[in-house]
Amino acid sequence: VGKITTTAVMSMKAEGEKIAMLTAYDSSFARIADSAGIEILLVGDSVGMVFSGQPNTLSVTLEQMIYHTSAVSRGAKHALVVADMPFMTYQINPEEALRNAGRLVQEAGAEAVKIEGGRAMADTVRKIVGAGIPVMGHIGLTPQSIHTLGGFRVQGRGAEAADTLTADALALQEAGAFALVLEGIPASLGQRISRELRIPTIGIGAGPDCDGQVLVMHDLLGLFDDFTPKFVKQYALLGEQVAEAFRQYRAEVKQAVFPQPEHCFKG
Ligand code: KIV
Ligand code: NA
Repeated sequence: VGKITTTAVMSMKAEGEKIAMLTAYDSSFARIADSAGIEILLVGDSVGMVFSGQPNTLSVTLEQMIYHTSAVSRGAKHALVVADMPFMTYQINPEEALRNAGRLVQEAGAEAVKIEGGRAMADTVRKIVGAGIPVMGHIGLTPQSIHTLGGFRVQGRGAEAADTLTADALALQEAGAFALVLEGIPASLGQRISRELRIPTIGIGAGPDCDGQVLVMHDLLGLFDDFTPKFVKQYALLGEQVAEAFRQYRAEVKQAVFPQPEHCFKG
């Protein structure tokens, strides 16, 4: 099995095989996710929240994304590596967006980039795709627009908002996006957009009818519970296990139970 490509991801939709995407920020976890068969590793700008402890994604820089994407790329033998373009690295104009997308590919090993926004981003998608860099779109709850959306809240409720998001999805497909993240929308709208598009949809809080799903790794592992959105399923409670390991280590140091002879070098 070689590298999973964007064309392979697109044909999974035609073949009715669901796509499993997961965020990753470092090489160790990327390697584990990769060997578990995860098809797409997203180096999300959620790194600003789960790694850096920021309240949102707005402060993430291109340099930080290049650093984390390099780490993930080295751990991904099979999975497709997609890098988020941070806030303000693609919104000014398509030329600047292409230059910055190019750095994520050239300096960090990204195989595709993801940008947030609907039809307003169509020219930018066209520009980047035209240079040979695959683009994943992202609509619905777009965290980089948190100050416009008024918080992390569900989008696309009501007929008019649903029509707008569906038109955005079609515009991004038309512009050449190879896939689309649908975040924080009613399940019925997730189903509608997934049916209307040729390209795969990857949902997070967008219902079961999307062509794939994505979760933030720290949410899935139970490592981040500052707040747990409705769409998160914890597949492990690593936070608790890690805390227990740390407590045990501390106690054994205090009691001089660790290290034992087998942990020591002989003279
Ligand atoms: O940054 C991120 O983790 C994301 C996913 C939640 C889609 O954009
Ligand atoms: Na993101």
